[in-house]
Amino acid sequence: MTDVLIDRIGTLVTNDPSLGPGPLGVIEDAALILGDGVVRWAGPRRATPEAAAAERVDAGGRAVIPGFVDSHAHLVFAGDRAAEFAARMAGRPYGAGGIRTTVAATRAASSQQLSRTAGRLVAEALRSGTTTIECKSGYGLTVDDERRSLEAAREHTREVTFLGAHVVAPEYADRPDDYVDLVCTTMLDACAPHARWVDVFCERGAFDGDQARAVLRAGAARGLVPRIHAGQLGPGPGVQIAVELDAASADHLTHLTAADVEALAAGRTVATLLPAVEFSTRSPYPDARRLLDAGVTVALAADCNPGSSYTTSIPFCIALAVREMQMTPDEALWAATMGGARALRRGDVGHLAPGARADAVLLDAPSHVHLSYRPGVPLVAAVWRGGVAAGEVA
Ligand code: NIG
Ligand code: FE
Repeated sequence: MTDVLIDRIGTLVTNDPSLGPGPLGVIEDAALILGDGVVRWAGPRRATPEAAAAERVDAGGRAVIPGFVDSHAHLVFAGDRAAEFAARMAGRPYGAGGIRTTVAATRAASSQQLSRTAGRLVAEALRSGTTTIECKSGYGLTVDDERRSLEAAREHTREVTFLGAHVVAPEYADRPDDYVDLVCTTMLDACAPHARWVDVFCERGAFDGDQARAVLRAGAARGLVPRIHAGQLGPGPGVQIAVELDAASADHLTHLTAADVEALAAGRTVATLLPAVEFSTRSPYPDARRLLDAGVTVALAADCNPGSSYTTSIPFCIALAVREMQMTPDEALWAATMGGARALRRGDVGHLAPGARADAVLLDAPSHVHLSYRPGVPLVAAVWRGGVAAGEVA
């Protein structure tokens, strides 16, 4: 594969503080060389090494940033819930129960259909700059439907999460503990070989603290690393459980107690905020400032799913985080790249230091600030994933 030299970059965000000032490691008037799927070199143009046989891309003074790392998505499902969204916008509240509508449609779909939908959404995400994406099961809720959901996810990403404990399966509505037993034994036995992560929706209407702990422990016993949905609809024990089990990430966090913030600050668990959910459920946004000021590592993710957030657009999430959550444009960009990488415990993505995977985005703008300054405008001019161009240079 020929090396790619991206030349005349106005602002290059590397996320490596040793390459430039600030946490974003910004280099002005920069160049970037990609080769063999990794970043070979990043630095000021004047120091560009002679790159043999490099294909040159002229950035023309525009910005280049690391590809977005979206650490929370539910892409394996069938049908949509536009009617539920419309009803919500007319005043109906959002609740965990809507998930069951998608469960019925997902069970009725073929594995091919499920994989096609996941693939379509991964491609859609890539077009808006997402080069790494996590994908959960959770709309099957039988042993077989959860396993085939994971297989469908695995065709499109290596960051696959078992979420058999999304809600109690309808057949078990009267005996939720039996469902938790099923998840913790037969379902995990069948599913763990196809996943890297185990997740649980710890929330009123889904699973309580004891049930969530049992599911995450059973997953961990089979080699999966915990992550959790916590504090979306109200405060609960999810954050404490996450830190106690050293979960990679606790996600949503719309409702947080002082003890939750303290626990996150003292632990290793990343706080993943999903502002498109608050947008789409018309809910108050999470308090990002409180987390950042306490020294918690914050990630931003889109949480694409047919119920609470049917978007794959990280630029949209960045704009919301800046406008509605008092994050600075720098903090929001870091959270959507390095933050996501931390939430997935990945060292090879989320930054553009030499050796990183060659995941880069050329913006049709002089700086990443335009992602929130020009909301809703398609600013992604080109995307490279693993050094391969996935978009057209305008
Ligand atoms: O992350 N909170 C649980 N799961 C999804 C919502 C799923 C749905 O409504 O279908 C979420 O918001
Ligand atoms: Fe989710």
